Amino acid sequence: MDPQPFPVDRRRYPAFLRHTHWLTAFLVLLAYLTIYARDWLERGTPERMLVGQLHVLAGLLILLLTVPRILMRLQQVPPPILPPMPVAQRLAAGLAHGVLFIFLAVQPMLGLCIQMVSGKGISFPLTSLKIPGLSHPDPELAKAFARLHEAVGELALYVLAAHLLAALWHWRIRQDDALQRML
Ligand code: HEM
Ligand code: HEM
Repeated sequence: MDPQPFPVDRRRYPAFLRHTHWLTAFLVLLAYLTIYARDWLERGTPERMLVGQLHVLAGLLILLLTVPRILMRLQQVPPPILPPMPVAQRLAAGLAHGVLFIFLAVQPMLGLCIQMVSGKGISFPLTSLKIPGLSHPDPELAKAFARLHEAVGELALYVLAAHLLAALWHWRIRQDDALQRML
């Protein structure tokens, strides 16, 4: 089925896509803050364990929100930005959003691979709930996943910075309705 435009009278993204966009933005910030804060805390302390668990939880929630979001976006296209943008800019924006969606799906899956393959599993903060990891861990493979996860996380910071600058450019310089469509 070809993607259908949202109803023409709607000048904004549908509520589900707007809410999940901002909730995801908050969770991405939380995922970065928690994992970098972990480096300042001493090994083996409950605080360090808590921020590690919060990182995992934020990442898993991102994955949970991203799957229905991508499915919805495959069926519908957002209302066009007014005044219309040149084709090259539209393509660049589409490409950047595609990369961000892939990041939001792949990065948590890499995180899951680290936890499962290292045998650590997933613990839920402030509860005794735990999804066990593999019974035959592979530390070398887990390290390879961790290196990839770290590299993807660092690379994504550049794409995210470009995304924020683009939003600022639409709002302050081009003064179109790109941001209003997401509010
Ligand atoms: C979009 C979501 C996520 C982002 C942006 C993200 C980002 C990052 C970054 C940047 C690092 C490297 C930190 C450093 O350099 O010290 C990291 C490490 C880590 N992340 Fe994530 N992460 C996400 C989701 C997850 C999930 C869902 C899990 C587990 C299920 C996870 C588990 C880990 C672990 C275990 C490490 C430490 C790896 C190591 O160095 O041993 N992450 N994450
Ligand atoms: C203050 C932070 C942010 C602002 C101001 C912002 C702004 C926007 C705006 C205005 C759009 C609509 C662009 C358009 O239709 O051309 C958009 C789309 C998008 N943003 Fe953000 N964003 C922010 C943070 C983030 C973060 C942290 C992510 C996480 C990866 C993200 C991922 C996306 C994605 C994937 C889209 C495409 C949405 C879709 O097509 O359904 N944004 N953002």
